[in-house]
Order: sequence, then structure tokens, then C-alpha cells
Amino acid sequence: MRKETLRLIFLLLISTHLHSVLSWKKEEFRNCDQTPFCKRARSRAPGSSTLTATDVSISDGDLTAKLTHKDDPHSKPLILTLSVHQDGILRLIIDEDHSLSPPKKRFQVPDVVVSQFPATKLHLSRLTPDPLSSSVYLSDSHSAVLRHDPFELFIRHDPSGHRVLSLNSHALFDFELLREKSEDDDWEERFRSHTDRRPYGPQSISFDVSFYSADFVYGIPERASSLALKPTRGPNVDHSEPYRLFNLDVFEYLHDSPFGLYGSIPFMLSHGSTRGSSGFFWLNAAEMQIDVLAPGWDADSSIALPSHRIDTFWMAEAGVVDAFFFIGPSPKDVLRQYTAVTGTPSMPQLFSIAYHQCRWNYRDEEDVDHVDSMFDELDIPYDVLWLDIEHTDGKKYFTWDRTLFPHPEDMQSKLADKGRHMVTIVDPHIKRDDNFHLHKEASQKGYYVKDSSGNDFDGWCWPGSSSYPDTLNPEIRSWWVDKFSYSNYVGSTPSLYIWNDMNEPSVFNGPEVTMPRDALHYGGVEHRELHNAYGYYFHMATANGLLKRGEGKDRPFVLSRALFAGSQRYGAIWTGDNTADWDHLRVSIPMVLTLGLTGMSFSGADVGGFFGNPEPELLVRWYQLGAYYPFFRAHAHHDTKRREPWLFGERNTELIKEAIHVRYALLPYFYTLFREANSTGVPVVRPLWMEFPSDEATFSNDEAFMVGSSLLVQGIYTERAKHASVYLPGEQSWYDLRTGAVYKGGVTHKLEVTEESIPVFQRAGTIIARKDRFRRSSTQMANDPYTLVIALNSSQSAEGELYIDDGSSFNFLQGAYIHRRFIFSNGKLTSINLAPASGSNERYPSDAFIERIILLGHAPGSKNALIEPSNQKVDIEHGPLWVLRARAPAVMTIRKPSVRVAEDWTITVT
Ligand SMILES: *[C@@H]1O[C@H](CO)[C@@H](O)[C@H](O)[C@H]1NC(C)=O
Ligand SMILES: *[C@@H]1O[C@H](CO)[C@@H](O)[C@H](O)[C@H]1NC(C)=O
Repeated sequence: MRKETLRLIFLLLISTHLHSVLSWKKEEFRNCDQTPFCKRARSRAPGSSTLTATDVSISDGDLTAKLTHKDDPHSKPLILTLSVHQDGILRLIIDEDHSLSPPKKRFQVPDVVVSQFPATKLHLSRLTPDPLSSSVYLSDSHSAVLRHDPFELFIRHDPSGHRVLSLNSHALFDFELLREKSEDDDWEERFRSHTDRRPYGPQSISFDVSFYSADFVYGIPERASSLALKPTRGPNVDHSEPYRLFNLDVFEYLHDSPFGLYGSIPFMLSHGSTRGSSGFFWLNAAEMQIDVLAPGWDADSSIALPSHRIDTFWMAEAGVVDAFFFIGPSPKDVLRQYTAVTGTPSMPQLFSIAYHQCRWNYRDEEDVDHVDSMFDELDIPYDVLWLDIEHTDGKKYFTWDRTLFPHPEDMQSKLADKGRHMVTIVDPHIKRDDNFHLHKEASQKGYYVKDSSGNDFDGWCWPGSSSYPDTLNPEIRSWWVDKFSYSNYVGSTPSLYIWNDMNEPSVFNGPEVTMPRDALHYGGVEHRELHNAYGYYFHMATANGLLKRGEGKDRPFVLSRALFAGSQRYGAIWTGDNTADWDHLRVSIPMVLTLGLTGMSFSGADVGGFFGNPEPELLVRWYQLGAYYPFFRAHAHHDTKRREPWLFGERNTELIKEAIHVRYALLPYFYTLFREANSTGVPVVRPLWMEFPSDEATFSNDEAFMVGSSLLVQGIYTERAKHASVYLPGEQSWYDLRTGAVYKGGVTHKLEVTEESIPVFQRAGTIIARKDRFRRSSTQMANDPYTLVIALNSSQSAEGELYIDDGSSFNFLQGAYIHRRFIFSNGKLTSINLAPASGSNERYPSDAFIERIILLGHAPGSKNALIEPSNQKVDIEHGPLWVLRARAPAVMTIRKPSVRVAEDWTITVT
């Protein structure tokens, strides 16, 4: 008895101890009530804004107006500018009146809007005369209407008169003007031991935005929470924190929280079953807090608005209003419109979408060699081996610990011989060590961010006392770019790529583990104004460094932890320091999907979970799910046990190997999707409703997702699962990826699951290209033949695309690529060229051919197929759905059609 009690006490002690060590340190971070601008904004009542629009006119092709306080005509006005862009994009800017000489210019985030965007502006020439409002045409079917008193902006679908989006419909708009400090102003803000001097006083902006005909809103990453954003205020809402956008290094983040993590994208989109999607983006890099308001939140208000709308409330600590409205109407339209402003994702190198092996840390060259050779021994492909901070000499980036890594070039070239690459870490904190050339140079040139008194900001990070390059400044960015040249980065070779961590920036002894808000950047910009974009500029400078190092020939690869709107142009991001538990496995899907919805298509979560030790079953499930993340990397904290794929017994090694093999087989499909994202902004992995926009059953599905438009993946998020409920949308059937078994669409299936895989289905009516021969790395598979998997629908038809280029250079931008569409109908498969046939100055030559064609759902009985123009006959036979899998079921197969992917041909089944 006593023994039992003691044991219990001991266990309790351990668990509370673990809890305090292993849990999120809530008190280190501010909540809304501890953040004066948020608390103030949230306490205002609807209808409290008295701004009216006056002096409305057209000037320089834009609509301009003054916003003045009705009850205080002598108050300083704000200047409103509305411009209309192609594809129905509306841009709204509201700033102080510069002619009244405010104490300084407010920060408008540079280098996020792409340079081509201004050229898409349509020149407005005419206002519809009306004393109550002014309107301009946005597109053939939409107008933007500025109501004068009180000021309100809304977008209307003209044929129906329905609203799409609006701003300030609840008159919550507020804009605090910068002020000069006088003797008795006390603007200082204190949080824990830190004081923020706030030299210009409170300068926040807040307003309401409404989305009409909306069932849900999505977006505003990054946080570990559901895909559809739950209301944060109003009747029946229990947790009351708004969604926070403030880039922070959040140690051991929770798996279900509105708290903002490492990156911020102030872009929200709505979706509804009747009229589709619309979007709103506020280009502002200051701390932002956003409320999603539950229906009835404004019960006392007298304002009459259509129901079926979702009201939101946006608050930012500083900056200007620079907002973009997107009218959709489909979710893919909204992505196209958003990426017309912030850029489509860059095209990654092929190797970087394959499997990455990472750990903090691979100890030394011997360890690297061992890990590398184990992959070969076990026939597990992988493409990239990563080195974390311990590879450096005393956490000085661009250096090597020469005891552990005496021959970095040889190490890299050994990997490169197998078509593999290496990634090393380069963080923004520079060690304040007078013997470190980078520090000497940066301090002499005045390239560091300054503290509020104008000295180099000095904070604590991995190397100890550190300073941070001010990459907001283009001159400092180009200095940073040169650090990546082979002569400056000694020990680097062309197969070395880069990882930017801690770029929120993380400052261990700073307020909320980051830089003080009154730190100063280039041009007198306060850190509070650009905080959320600091990591973005650093990421940009690093990617441009790799670009310049390769003389602009190779596509860079840079992984970043911090992100902002536009980061998709510079590389991949991962969801930071997650934990090895089932909840983190589950939340990785809404996190990755939300990033994709906000333009950041190339993302993934650490496979296995960064903190803690996964049970083998969890690790296997994580590989099975991670194989479908756009960015597929295993990573682990240095206090965890080693967990390379072969350390959990033969059976688990086999299962992990199979998960990785599936990814390698599907690389041609993934690469085609990356190119689609690169040209349209539509993400590689998508929520089901992006493909089935009117199917309400998909709107809040957080567990399943689409890879492109052809594959549906259902994760398994529980231990020892024997069954899974899987909803398969649409009217067409779905084919199990492993077995070829067919399932009806439009219903929820209760499926048996085994340890062998998670449920994945190919949609009927689609064609997917695979590569089924496995080698050491994706690079070595470049010339391998293809397998086409044709999944027929009820009309015995299917379609699919394949995009191929050299996988590494920019020649595809000059037309050096192969892009085919495969169409199967009436028993005939046709390959059609989608690339510009002539006029392009480059070609991508490829001899690659198609070695197998699998027909799923084809009526039995066909014996052979006729290939034209070669006029050859080949046999149709039963062959395995997966060649490398021992017990793969047999399916109808056209073997050795041996047609070239680059050419036009038809194959008729007879
Ligand atoms: C695609 O990616 C490349 C960089 O890899 C970029 O230069 C280009 O602008 C992107 N977008 C399009 C539409 O090609
Ligand atoms: C079958 O697939 C083809 C090609 O994707 C498509 O055009 C057709 O509409 C589909 N048929 C049905 C009944 O959905």
C-alpha cells in the first residue's frame, strides 16, 4: 500500500516535472489583454467610427478620397486610394496625409508585391455620380462601391446585387496618427522585464471585414489549429483570444491553439456552397490580431446586412492600410488572384521534392558516411542529408568544425556522386566575436539592426552574444548574397544548399523570445513595423545568394522557418519544432493545407516529430503521411534517440521504405503539380473543397486532403487503428492506390486499415504518371521510363498531365520542357503536346519512354493495343499494379508500349 502511494507520488512528481519542462511557456508570451492596441481595439463598439469620405475624385487612374471625422471637421484627414487591377483585384490604401507632415512616414512593406503587379492596373476614368456613394467597375460583373457617410467599401456582384466582400460595414475602423512626444506623454509599454519606448505613441489600425455567402473562413497562418477558422468572439465562444500573427520561436507549441507561430500571412479566404470563394489580404508586417466573429456578436447593432456572412475584425500595431480584395469566385481563382499580387511559388529543383534526411546533428563525417551508406545497403532512396548548427565552428555560420568535418568538400562530392545533396544551416544571428570576419565586417559597415539608442542590437542566441543583419536594406541584402560564393563560403560546393532557422528572429533574452519592437532598421523603420517580414527578407537574401553563387543557372533551395506573404518565391518552409505525438501528426495536415491556401505551397512538418521519441508505429504512420507532404523531411532534436529508418526492426524498416518508395514513384506527378503551382498559384496539396467546391461535407474536413486533383489521402492519426472512416467526395468512383479496389464516391466508407499503408485513392477519370524503378536518388532516376496509371470513370474516360524538365535550371522559362496531356476516351489513349510547339528558343530533349500502362476500371476482354503512328501491336495482359511489391494485385496492363513521352502518339485498345 505504502509502496503504491510512494510510487504514485513519484509518478506525479515526474509528470509535473515533465509538464513544466515539456510544455509551452504561456506566460512568456503576451495575450490580447496584455497588448494595449489589441485590448483597446477589441473594446470598441460597432458603429463607433465616424469617418466620412469627402472630396471623392479620380486622379491618376485611381479613385481618391479624404476620410474625415464628421463630428470633428478640424481633425487631420486620412487619404484613401482605390485602384483596380486585372482579374477583378481591388487595392485599397489608407495612410496619413503626407502634405500635413506627420512625424515620419509610416512603413509600407516593400518587395512583397511583385514587380509585374503595378502594370496590371486598369486606368479608372469615370465615377458613377451619386451623392451617397461612388462606384467603379471592377470586372464585367462586379463593382466596387464607396459609401460616403459613414464610410464603407464593398464589392457587389452586379447582376444579382449580392455583396461579395466589405470593409467597415460595422463602422469599427480606427487609425491612430503618429505623434511627436511631448514632456508629459508616457507611452512606454512594459511586458515582463522589457520596456518598449514607443517614441511615436500608439499607432495602431483596426477595421472590420465581412465575407458574404460564406460558410467558413480559412487562412492567416501560422498556427497549429483547425483548417476552418473557429470564431474567437461572440455568443457561445469559450476561448477568447484572437488569432495572432506575430512571428515567434515558440518552444514546444501546442497542437490546438490560435497562438501565432513562426510565420505570418495576413491573407484570409472564405468559402461557401452557393457562391464559392473570395479573399482579403492586408499587406502589413506589424503584429496583427484577428477576430473571427460568431453570428450574433453584434446583436445590439442596428446595421442591417445580409445574413450568411462571416464578419472578421483586423487589428495591427502599426503600418498603413494596404489591402487587396479578391472576388474569386472559385477557390482556385482566389489563389490565382492572390499570387498575381505576391507571386507564384518558385519552381523547385527536382531533388528538393524528394526525401530529406535530417537530424540535429549528424556528428561528424564518419556519421554522415554511415547514414548515407545504410540507405544504399537497404535500398532506400534519399536525396538530401542535412547538417544542423553543430557542424559549425562555435555556431559561426559559413564555417566548419574542422575536427568533426575536416573535409567538407570531399564529403559533399561523395554524396554528389550518387546524385545526392547536402544542406547546411545559416541563421541570422551573427556571433559577436572580433575574430569572426563576418562580424567584423558587419559591425564596421554598420549593417546590424540597431537598438533603440542607436547601438548595434545585441541579443542572445545559439552562439551567445549576437547581432542581426538588417536585411530590410537592399544594400545589406546584396552584401549577404555574396557570402554564399564558393570563395567566401569556404568548404561549400555546388551540391550544397541552405537552411534558414531562427529567423523570426529568435532572441533568447528578448521580449517574447524576439527582438524589441523599438529596435531600429534601415530608414528609421521601427522593428514593430516590419517584425513579421524580417525572416522573409533574410530568406530572400539567402536564396538570392545561392542564385548568384551559381551565376543564375540553378534554382536555389532554401528552407526557412519564418515566413511572410511572398515567401513562396524564395523556397520551402516547415512547420517548426513539433512534437512526436499523434496530435501533432494530425495537426500537420491543417497546417500544411492552410499554408498552401495562402500561397505557400512548398511546406511540410518534421516527419517523426522534432521533440520526443516516437513509438515505431507513430514513426511509420508519419512516414506514410509525410510521403504526401510537399516538403518531405525527417528531423529530430538532439536529445532524442537516433531514429533513422532502420533502427526499429526489419518490419518497420520495410514499411518506412515502402512509404518512401511511393513518394519516389509519384515524383513525376508531384513535379507536375509543383509546376502547376508555379504557373497558377494553386497549391500542390489542397483541401477537398478546392476540388469539390459545392460539397459541404468537405468544408471542415481536416483529416483528408487532395494531392493535386487526382489523389485523395486520408491520414491515420490513432494508435493501432483497425478501421478508418473515409469520405470520398463526388459522383465518380475512387481506386485504392495499392490494390486498385474501387470505391463509390459521395459516401463515407468504413475501411479496414493495416499497418502497410494509410488509405490513398486515385479519382476515376484521371491519369497519373509514375516511375517505378528505384535508385539511390531522384537525380539518378532522371532518364527512367514512366508508368501511366489510367483510372477510368463511368464513361470509360480519363485525363492527366505530365510536366518534365531538366529538374534544376531555369531553361524551362525559355521553353525547355515537355508538357503532355494524356486523354483516354473511346478506347483510345492520346498524348497531346501542351508546350508551345514552335517559337520557343530552347527544348528539353528526352528519350524517356513509357514502359507500362495500367488500366483501372476497363471492361475486360481486350487482348491487344495498336500503337500509332508506328503501327505496332502490343499485348494486353495481367500484370502487377506495383512491380516491386510482392503481393500486388494483377491489373490490366499494356506492357512495353515503348512510346516516347516527348512525342505525339495514340494507343488504341482492341
Ligand atoms: C516559376 O518559377 C520560376 C523560378 O523557379 C520563376 O522565375 C517564375 O516567375 C515562376 N512563375 C512562372 C509563372 O513561371
Ligand atoms: C470522365 O472523365 C473525363 C476526363 O476526365 C471527363 O471529361 C468526363 O466528364 C468524365 N465523365 C463523367 C461522367 O464524369
